[in-house]
Amino acid sequence: MADHIHPLHERLLGRPAKEALLGQRGLCIWMTGLSGSGKSTIAIGLERALHETGRYAVVLDGDNVRAGINSNLGFSDADRTENIRRIAEVAKLFVQNGAVVICCFVSPTIAIREQAKAIIGAEDFHEVFIDTPLEECERRDVKGLYAKARAGVVKDFTGISAPFEAPTSPAIRIATKGSSEADSTSELLKYILPRIARN
Ligand code: ADX
Repeated sequence: MADHIHPLHERLLGRPAKEALLGQRGLCIWMTGLSGSGKSTIAIGLERALHETGRYAVVLDGDNVRAGINSNLGFSDADRTENIRRIAEVAKLFVQNGAVVICCFVSPTIAIREQAKAIIGAEDFHEVFIDTPLEECERRDVKGLYAKARAGVVKDFTGISAPFEAPTSPAIRIATKGSSEADSTSELLKYILPRIARN
């Protein structure tokens, strides 16, 4: 049969070849939590820790994705849903190519995270709840957005004027209040390492 009769995915190198090259298994760590809960900070530490031990990791984060591929989207329910749909499709491409993908998105509703899980595939989707109380996120107010949300300058702000539905059964819950950044990162690293090991 001529080559062009086979669909593209059958002609490309498959996931096993990519994973064999990288010496790891691909998966997606999906961090959900309020703005300022510590998702990005933990992702930065995790990416470095994985990299230093020879694992290939990629971070997708609200602040960078929304500046580029999703720069036309805001924070309405419909826009958040489209934001997460596109991100999940990108994450899936990376996972299929053997990467450890660390996604940091508020992804505030169960429905939005279910959509991500359906796109990425349940076996590759690991929901991580970065559990930091609203009061603590607001106290930190790293980007000054909670103050603006309280003042009504920023609308539809998660936790203040838009909902956040905590995961009911995350794969792992990381409580950051009272723990160091290093502790939170290593807690998650312990979860990840056996799951990306080959054999
Ligand atoms: S999501 O709800 O669509 O998953 P995403 O993680 O991409 O959100 O972006 C959240 C980041 O955008 C926050 O950390 C914050 O810096 C910023 N932001 C700006 N406006 C809002 C808002 N109304 N609600 C939540 N986050 C906002």
